[in-house]
Amino acid sequence: MLYRAANLSFRYTINKKTASNIVNELLMLFNNVSAPLLQPLPASFSGTCQVSVLRLDLLHPHIHGNKWFKLKYNLQQAQVEGKTTLLTFGGAYSNHLRATAAAGHYFGFHTIGYVRGEPTASLNPVLQFACQMGMELRYLSRNDYRSIHQQQDMLAWLQVRFPNECFDDCYILPEGGSNALAIKGCAEIWQYVSENFDYALCACGTGCTLAGLVLGNPDVKVLGVSVLKGNFLTATVQQLLTEVPPPRVGHWEVIEDYHFGGYARTTPALNNFIRDFMSRYHIPLEPVYTGKLFYALTDLLCKKYFADGSRLLILHTGGIY
Ligand SMILES: Cc1ncc(COP(=O)(O)O)c(C=O)c1O
Repeated sequence: MLYRAANLSFRYTINKKTASNIVNELLMLFNNVSAPLLQPLPASFSGTCQVSVLRLDLLHPHIHGNKWFKLKYNLQQAQVEGKTTLLTFGGAYSNHLRATAAAGHYFGFHTIGYVRGEPTASLNPVLQFACQMGMELRYLSRNDYRSIHQQQDMLAWLQVRFPNECFDDCYILPEGGSNALAIKGCAEIWQYVSENFDYALCACGTGCTLAGLVLGNPDVKVLGVSVLKGNFLTATVQQLLTEVPPPRVGHWEVIEDYHFGGYARTTPALNNFIRDFMSRYHIPLEPVYTGKLFYALTDLLCKKYFADGSRLLILHTGGIY
């Protein structure tokens, strides 16, 4: 297996029989990645501020962006608990399902992905990839999907709903891979930032990445650009921050003006922006997360939201579609 991280590349052979050792060794290899992932944007973009992109999308071909950070301590925990299966949930285009399938493949876990909605005649590229990585796809009706996400104990719900299945070997990863261990992992994103910044900006879905950034560096103001319609994310992030001691107030804000109609919705203006940005700066964006984030930053710069000379870090958290 060939891993690449900017100027780093190395080979590692996966042997499923020794998966438990592999988790530890690969964790060490990932921890040692110190490639220059910071990419400054030219003044044509940043105007009177300085903007650098943290290219987490380059960390790994399949477990990249915020996904590695969300998965890292969860994989360790699954290993500690002696679980052999990662069980998770997502929509049919979920980046998290895709990354979990890949993590299972590389680290020797069986994976089960519960997909929201009904099966379709053919698999989309995300689910096709997940299958290739060995993920067992199962489908939950939208009602069931909603029900299980209202449960404290998801395993208990699954066991009652599917009495003929055995879930004893399963380690549950919630939708989006977001839990306290994922926040702890996201706090480590700062290990890849070798310069000082006044602000950090990230796309915000569950709020886990934002919470991790706040936990990891209380000195930088973190702006989360919500990709969802509604004003619930501030309360969500406040709650998430109480789940990871020590208690921190932090210096952060959720910006709710750039959802473009809601999750996975887009508009011609957003599509045009993405096309134009990619042709100018050769950084891939998609309309669900990073497109909305970079659009928001462009607009905020235009509106002089930041003082002249501010140093801004923008996280490229990956994303495929
Ligand atoms: C590419 C990408 N960026 C950003 C996010 C948002 O992260 P979070 O759910 O932690 O807010 C996600 C969702 O995990 C994602 O897939």
